[in-house]
Amino acid sequence: MAKPTRTGRVAGKTAIVTGGASGIGEAACVLLAEHGSGVVIADIDESKGKALEARIVENGGAAVFQRLDVASEADWDRVVKYTLDWRGGLDIVVNNAGMSGPQGRTPVHETTVENWDTVFGVNSTGVFLGTKAAIEPMRQAGGGSIINVSSIYGIVGSRAGAAYHASKGAVRTFSKAAAVSYAPDGIRVNSVHPGFADTAMTLELHARPGVREERESLTPLGRLGTPEDIAWGILYLASDESSFMTGAELVIDGGMIAR
Ligand code: NAI
Repeated sequence: MAKPTRTGRVAGKTAIVTGGASGIGEAACVLLAEHGSGVVIADIDESKGKALEARIVENGGAAVFQRLDVASEADWDRVVKYTLDWRGGLDIVVNNAGMSGPQGRTPVHETTVENWDTVFGVNSTGVFLGTKAAIEPMRQAGGGSIINVSSIYGIVGSRAGAAYHASKGAVRTFSKAAAVSYAPDGIRVNSVHPGFADTAMTLELHARPGVREERESLTPLGRLGTPEDIAWGILYLASDESSFMTGAELVIDGGMIAR
């Protein structure tokens, strides 16, 4: 039975959320479904993705898991076709899948070309391919919303790692270029820049002695973010409430880079 909390902010729309099985992507899938969108949970993690599909459907939402490696154009073609067959259209793409890991966290002098290419393949090429795949179906529908998840580290520097910073910075300006190119088609493209948030990606890092405390003290609001903190911003950009917003960067970081 449908949950009474559903408010229909994205009612009748259809979304693909990459990295949808965990963390920020998972929270975005749940919120989009609660607010009336059909959701394709697109991820390489099949067990988590299928478990989330079952949870959303049990709560009265429309969701389906599809295996997708964001760096594979063939996967994109298949998943977009599946989505169009399932729902008859595509309104929202959330290019959220990303990686940092050991490959993303090395300083410039320790970064190998292989590491660099691996991180760019997911964080940058994945966003490019997801945007590319959405253009034609969105054009046909008369518009749509593409939301690219970058990071505060796509705006400012730190010692967090060369490939991660560069790949997230690429997402920021790529989104602006796509926004300008496709505005005449009614397709909006915005980037989201999370600050420090507790997810599977940061679990090990935030468990290291002193790291959580340091990050909390760097954040004016005095706490780390939750996946939901970021997902509310994604829901806003996905909905028609943000219909005059394109090429913008939505920073959700507890004030971290305002200092
Ligand atoms: P997470 O590790 O909880 O989720 C990432 C998801 O992406 C996982 O389900 C994983 O299976 C999936 N994924 C990884 N590679 C993939 C690929 N090639 N194709 C498809 N799916 C793939 O991480 P989190 O924190 O939710 O990250 C989401 C986004 O937010 C990432 O782009 C990350 O860089 C960004 N971000 C996260 C921050 C944080 O503090 N957690 C801060 C700033 C940005």
